[in-house]
Amino acid sequence: MFFPIDKFHAIPTPFYFYDVELFRRTAQAALSEAQKYGYTIHYALKANANEKLLRLLSGMGFGADCVSGAEVQRAIDCGFAPQGIAFAGVGKRDDEICLGIDHRIFSFNCESEQELEVVNELAKAKGTAAQVALRINPNVDAHTHAHITTGLDENKFGINLWQLNDVAKKVQQLSHLKLVCIHFHIGSQIAELEPFVELCAKVNELQEQLAQVGVTVEHVNVGGGLGVDYENPDENSIPQFAAYFATLNRHIKLRKGQQLHCELGRSIVAQCGALITKCLYVKELQKKNFVVVDAGMTDLIRPALYGAYHKIENITPQRNSKKVYDVVGPICESSDVFSKDVALPQTQRGDLIAIRTAGAYGEVMASRYNLRQLPKAYFSDEV
Ligand SMILES: Cc1ncc(COP(=O)(O)O)c(C=O)c1O
Repeated sequence: MFFPIDKFHAIPTPFYFYDVELFRRTAQAALSEAQKYGYTIHYALKANANEKLLRLLSGMGFGADCVSGAEVQRAIDCGFAPQGIAFAGVGKRDDEICLGIDHRIFSFNCESEQELEVVNELAKAKGTAAQVALRINPNVDAHTHAHITTGLDENKFGINLWQLNDVAKKVQQLSHLKLVCIHFHIGSQIAELEPFVELCAKVNELQEQLAQVGVTVEHVNVGGGLGVDYENPDENSIPQFAAYFATLNRHIKLRKGQQLHCELGRSIVAQCGALITKCLYVKELQKKNFVVVDAGMTDLIRPALYGAYHKIENITPQRNSKKVYDVVGPICESSDVFSKDVALPQTQRGDLIAIRTAGAYGEVMASRYNLRQLPKAYFSDEV
């Protein structure tokens, strides 16, 4: 990722900076690897719903994965074809479902029997039928952080395995639904490929099980979750898409004519984004040195929320000697810490700091706590 530091001095901090060239290369790499097997990618807007980035993705032919009515609307506004939109989420409101029905989206990924009944009723009232997927909780451990694991029995997501046959049979009785897909998503920031191998085995088993009760579908959606390298953003700026899709291809048994879908978010957008912030103060105390920056947990909440690691760099032209600092924000919360014990070149008031790999679950999660302004986005091809 390249930082045009001379241009940064004119921009008020903190802000998000996106390297558009890296973004395009990453998205293209994902598409090319998926296309080798004829798979479809629905980009997960929850990772980053920035309009410029979305327009680039829709122009490249990505589908969309949305988890709210506002995301469905944003996807459509940014050029995604409604027929390529999957709508997941454990708590869809009636108005959000109606929006999806009106646009004839690809699938409502339904997470309970009651939700299926509601979608059926709303479609009936509109004199139409809605395409649905059953989101199945496969009870596969993604071996990731507990807060971003979604596919275990204890998680709130999806239809549990013991309910599956009954729910699948039920869908067939609902006259305003068309069951087109089974959907899975086991978690996010999955660093190893082994959980995807396990997921494929479970999908194969469940396809057999469903066929025995007379249920087959045209589409299988294995969700997102491919992780990125937060420690080495420059060495591994493009995630291991080739290995990921090859793993799916090796282990999943699709039935004749079945289409495979996945919903990558983080892996498409994480490495091209950085949060750029300025050092306000340096506090050198007996036990600790602190760099107090002008970005806080309101701009990037992942470290405070999940203890997530982001590489931190002082991008002001370097001084040689290094010091160890805790890099902290200005918010009145003790958890407003970006990283502890970071070795940085001796840092001074006014230095620019880059918090790396912040393109996913960064800008979208920003809040106005402490009545702060939301961070703005700048792009490498516009600054
Ligand atoms: C249903 C669903 N699909 C896709 C994703 C995207 O996951 P990731 O950003 O890890 O690829 C998520 C994120 O948790 C999700 O909940």
